[in-house]
Amino acid sequence: MEKKTAASAAAQARLAWLDSKEAKRINKKNKRVVLIGVLMGVAAMVAVVLDGVLRVEKQDKLCLVLDDDFSNGFNKTTWSHEIQSGGYGVGSFDWTTDSEKNAYVEDGKLYIVPTLTVENFWPPYFNMDGIKLDLAAGGNCTGDGDTNCAMMNNFAEGQMIQPIQSARITTKKSHSIRYGKVEVRARMPTGNWLWPAIWMMPRDSVYGIWPASGEIDLMESSGNMPRQRQDERSVGAVQSSYHFGPDWRTNAGDHHTGYQFRWRDYFNQGYHNYVLEWNEKRMRVYVDDPRNTMNTFEFPKEPMWDYGKFGEIQIEPPIHNPWIRSENPNHAPFDQDFYLILNVAVGGKYFQGAGDAPWTTESAYPATTFWNNIKKWYPTWPTDPRERGMAVDRVRMWQKC
Ligand SMILES: *[C@@H]1O[C@H](CO)[C@@H](O)[C@H](O)[C@H]1NC(C)=O
Ligand SMILES: *[C@@H]1O[C@H](CO)[C@@H](O)[C@H](O)[C@H]1NC(C)=O
Repeated sequence: MEKKTAASAAAQARLAWLDSKEAKRINKKNKRVVLIGVLMGVAAMVAVVLDGVLRVEKQDKLCLVLDDDFSNGFNKTTWSHEIQSGGYGVGSFDWTTDSEKNAYVEDGKLYIVPTLTVENFWPPYFNMDGIKLDLAAGGNCTGDGDTNCAMMNNFAEGQMIQPIQSARITTKKSHSIRYGKVEVRARMPTGNWLWPAIWMMPRDSVYGIWPASGEIDLMESSGNMPRQRQDERSVGAVQSSYHFGPDWRTNAGDHHTGYQFRWRDYFNQGYHNYVLEWNEKRMRVYVDDPRNTMNTFEFPKEPMWDYGKFGEIQIEPPIHNPWIRSENPNHAPFDQDFYLILNVAVGGKYFQGAGDAPWTTESAYPATTFWNNIKKWYPTWPTDPRERGMAVDRVRMWQKC
């Protein structure tokens, strides 16, 4: 009781005070402060919006050149297979075939699926010492030389034919773009040491062999479960790189590589759009939305040779400027036609430095070590090919026009 009376007395005193002149003056001042605050807020908002408007670049005009949602099956005019067995210079363990086991369309999705060679290739041959396979003899090899087109078993040497078959398909013969946009909606594969990739290579290599004519990687990832947060070689990460340089020793790709990471909701669990936007001023790659940009390259105001400080590199044999006669020296080699590649490789140099890899890059035949350690990785490969494979829902390419 006592308390309540005291409380209401205080309330009455407050009411009386609110009526006073002093209170009205303070109130008016408060209102003015609030009004000024609101005005400042509005001004700030206008400034932010204006800044955004001024910063938005003029959008490139784009003309659609390819739209494949795989509703009509595997289109052999659009897609051609690379058939090679040499590990493509990155030491991967897959022999890429045109078999429907390794690349096929089902329910409107393209699947690229690595399989064990022993399953598709008559086992007595797979296990026969001394057997030599010549892909060129069948006229099917898309590479050249024994390095890319021949394999053999030489058990005394520890050499074996590639233990994995997979697929690499390209638009090399059908569609290339020079500036524009590429959008690939895909879900990544599951399984240790799988190396899915969505990337582009120069159609004509006018500046010379890799990486002088460039390489644009929209997405590279790995089928391993993350060993920790931000594990670059896992289903929790996707990587994008721009490779270029006078020769393989002076590739600047490491300086133009970026990542997107997920912790939960990994890239093998759902479909995402992997997008490249490319014009004369810059390239950028993002996942789904520009807010998830993983790799931007604002082309320099100076020639690439100077920008990369390639002239300062002392190396034997010396390097030369491959872009010296280019009409676009400040963004060559990214001023030429590039075509799209989709593939799932297995093992190889992408995993260099991964301490838990079941092969050693130093050994002469790492694929043999990998195969001998099959118990360490095969159980992680899902039996369902749709999970083991990269699933591609739609591919679109636009030419800047
Ligand atoms: C296959 O692709 C080509 C162009 O790459 C296109 O002209 C053709 O209509 C496609 N065929 C089907 C069945 O979709
Ligand atoms: C070469 O291609 C033909 C036609 O597609 C196919 O029948 C044959 O199996 C292929 N050979 C090899 C070694 O892949």
